[in-house]
Parts: sequence; structure tokens; C-alpha cells
Amino acid sequence: MDIRPEPFEPPAPIPRTIPPSRLEIIKVMFRNPLELWGKPSYTLPWMQVKFFGQLTTICHDPSLIKHVLVDNAGNYAMQPIRQLVLRPILRDGLLTAEGDVWKRSRKAMAPVFTPRHAKGFAGQMLKMTEAFAERYAEPAKKNAEVNIATGMTELTYEILAETLFSGEIATGTEGFAERVDSLLHNMGRIDPLDLLLAPSWMPRITRIPGRKALKAFRQIVSDTMDARRRKMDSRETVPDDFLTLLLKIEGPDGLTRDEIEDNILTFIGAGHETTARALAWALYCIAESPHFRAAMEEEIDRVLSDGADPVDWLDLMPHVRAAFEEAMRLYPPAPSINRAPIEDDTWTSADGKTITLPKGESVLVMPWTLHRHELYWDRPRHFMPERFLPANRDKIHRFQYLPFGAGPRICIGATFALQEAVIALAVLMKRYRFDVTDSTRPWPVQRLTTQPLNGIALRVSAR
Ligand code: HEM
Repeated sequence: MDIRPEPFEPPAPIPRTIPPSRLEIIKVMFRNPLELWGKPSYTLPWMQVKFFGQLTTICHDPSLIKHVLVDNAGNYAMQPIRQLVLRPILRDGLLTAEGDVWKRSRKAMAPVFTPRHAKGFAGQMLKMTEAFAERYAEPAKKNAEVNIATGMTELTYEILAETLFSGEIATGTEGFAERVDSLLHNMGRIDPLDLLLAPSWMPRITRIPGRKALKAFRQIVSDTMDARRRKMDSRETVPDDFLTLLLKIEGPDGLTRDEIEDNILTFIGAGHETTARALAWALYCIAESPHFRAAMEEEIDRVLSDGADPVDWLDLMPHVRAAFEEAMRLYPPAPSINRAPIEDDTWTSADGKTITLPKGESVLVMPWTLHRHELYWDRPRHFMPERFLPANRDKIHRFQYLPFGAGPRICIGATFALQEAVIALAVLMKRYRFDVTDSTRPWPVQRLTTQPLNGIALRVSAR
């Protein structure tokens, strides 16, 4: 007899049954795009709708997604609106670069993100998480509530700062985190002019306050790079961090100095809030699933008492990894992957229907709806990490689960993020137990990432 309790259904907008009016679409787009999607978006293999005058193709059929992201990826550019928002900040960083610059940068940066280098960061990830865990010691004594959303942002920021610069920041670490915060705040904003696809030289009123901050921030990154370069040139010992790795590939076949600077900003922008969101959602869903939490605690205790090297935790802790992957299914940190065909394209489904994807129109691959899609998932709205355990993993189609995207532009930091997440969850759950309280009522909103409105309050206690 199966005595497992009913799986937990975490909060999410109920799919609409009546299409919103034009005015409502605009309001919801600014308030929370996740609330926009109707029943068809969670049940049909693809849809074509007019959206702000653009024909938008929403792709769910895994073979259509493979066509767009992999088989015919060369025909798909980043969507103009995303570029209008991000490019003024990240310039030619990998996330926003296109064409030959992207090709050369991706090739040059591949060695920086090998699994060997990610593993090399495991020690720093462990050290930073252990230091962070101390901050919960006092609240745990009082069984007090902590806001896990801000906590995880601090933790992943500290890990990123350590693996990027090893603490060697030109102005000192003081105040740097606040600058990063303001940068991210500025990054996530869509200005009304962006929606109208106005050219990038037209000033965006909503982003004016961020411009000075961005300039100052770039100056600090630039000074930090110069200081490290001087050290490298004078053959002093330098830390084995991202900054050193990037400066080593400066040159005609690698990256220019400006591109290195752009990529440092990109790593800060793409590489910590994403992981932080997924960690916070994971801790929340785990707190609501005591049965699975018990299996995770048993696994963590066993692996840690064997003294395993943190480099191997990702492989040794399938339950921890499964919980994190399931949290990214329900709350994908990147809820939408947006493209625009460079030339007209067509695709034919297995049952012989052909659709046209016209040049310059909009193509969306949306992990948010794909991961909750009724055609592809059993009990799509429920938190069931068992799906991701090795015995069941093969049942998940490669193109029905896309937290890191797919194809040539797949997330370059995926291994880094997974390793970081498993180390963070293991260290925190070894020491503490997190529980929901009456004030735990998170609500997902789409900004740059899928984030909990007003944070996530969990009670922390010592195990
Ligand atoms: C849970 C954490 C993360 C998630 C869910 C995530 C998600 C994604 C997704 C979906 C894309 C593809 C976007 C597209 O195709 O339009 C992407 C690209 C990218 N990610 Fe991540 N990411 C994570 C962590 C990281 C980390 C830790 C780093 C770096 C340290 C990073 C750096 C990048 C970069 C540079 C790209 C652009 C790659 C390219 O276009 O060639 N990400 N990420």
C-alpha cells in the first residue's frame, strides 16, 4: 500500500478561461506576465496569436522547440524587445551578443565553463555557504522566521563575488552588493518605449536613474580588471577565479578588453539572481513536502558523514538535485525564451500540420507554460521531485524541460548553478529545518526572473 501523502500544489495563477481585453493585457504585462496565460497555453502544442501587432508563435511541442532552438537555430535572433532592455547594460556580453561576436565569445569562453573549472569552484561554494549558514544560527535558536528569498539572493551573490573576484574588488567589497542590486533592478525594467520597439537611442525615462549607477559600476569593474592584470603581468600569484580565467583569454583569438568587462557584468546579471530564485522556491516546496524532505535529510546526512568531497555531491545526492530540478520546473528562473526569425521559416508537426514562422515576428519558448503543460506532464501543478530521480528521469523528453534553454545558446553556467544549488541545499538542510508558517504566502511574479512577490517567510530551526 502506498502511504505517501498527496503531493503539494504550490501557488500559481489559475489559467484564464476568458481572453483578457487589450487594456487588461497591458496592465497584466506590467504587473505580472505570468497571469496572462489562458487555458490553451497549458493545453495546446502551439498557438499563433496577435500580440501588440506582432504575430506571436508560442511553442510547446518538443519537436517545434527543437526546430527553433537547435535544428534551425541559425535562423533565429534574440527578440528585439529583450535586446532593447538588456543590451544598453550588458552590451557585447554573451547573453546579448549576436552574430560573429557571439560565436567568437562563446568559443573563447567554453574553456572557462568546463565541468573541471566548475568543480574547481566547489570549495569556494562550500566555504561561502558555511559562512552564510552562521547567519541563521540566532534565528534558529528562537525558531524565528527568515525571508528565504532575500537570504538566497545574499548567498548566491556572495558565492558569485567570490568565484568572480575572490574578494579583490577595486573599491573594497563594502557597498558593492548594493550597486549590484541597483544594476539588477535597472536591468529588469521594460520601458513603454521598449514595448513600442522604439530605437535604442531614444532615452528611456524609467531607466534614467540607473544610468549614473551603471557608469560607476562599470568603473569599479574596470579598475578591478586593471589591478588583476597588473598582478598577472608582474607574475604575482593570482587566484584561480573567473576574472583570471577571463583575462587569460584576452587577445586576438579570444575576447577584447571591453568584451571581458561586458561579460563580467553579464555573469553578475545572469548568474546569481537566477540561482537564488530557484533555491528559495526549492526550500519552500521542500518545506511543504515533509515526506520527500525526510529522504533528502537521510541522503545529506549519509553523504556528509562519509566525508565526501563537495565536488562529488551533485552525483551523490540525487534527491537534493531532484528537488532543485522540480522547483525549477514549477518556477523556472527564466520563464520565457524569446526569439525572432531572421527569414521566414516553416515547421511541420508529426500529424502533418504546417505552420509559418514569419521573418521578424515573435517566437516564444516559455518554460513557465511548457513545464506546467497538460500534454506533457502528469499532475503538472504538483511538486513531485520523484520525476527527476535517476530511475524516472528518462521519461522526461529533452525538449519538455528547459530551465537552462537548449541549443547553441544554452546557459553556459548550468553546471556551475547545479553544483552551487546542491552544495547550498545540503549545507543548509544539514544544519537547519525550514517550515512554513501562517505568513508563508508566496506568489510568483515575472520580472527578469520568476520571483516571489514579498519574499518567502519560513521558520528556521536547528535539526
Ligand atoms: C539556476 C540558474 C540559472 C538558470 C535557470 C539560467 C537560465 C538560462 C537560460 C534559460 C539561458 C538561455 C537564454 C536564451 O536562450 O535566450 C541562459 C543563458 C546564459 N546564462 Fe544562465 N542560468 C542560470 C545560471 C547561470 C550562471 C550561474 C551563469 C554564469 C555564471 C549564467 C550565465 C549565462 C550566460 C552567459 C548565458 C548566455 C549564453 C549564450 O547566449 O551563449 N547562467 N541562462
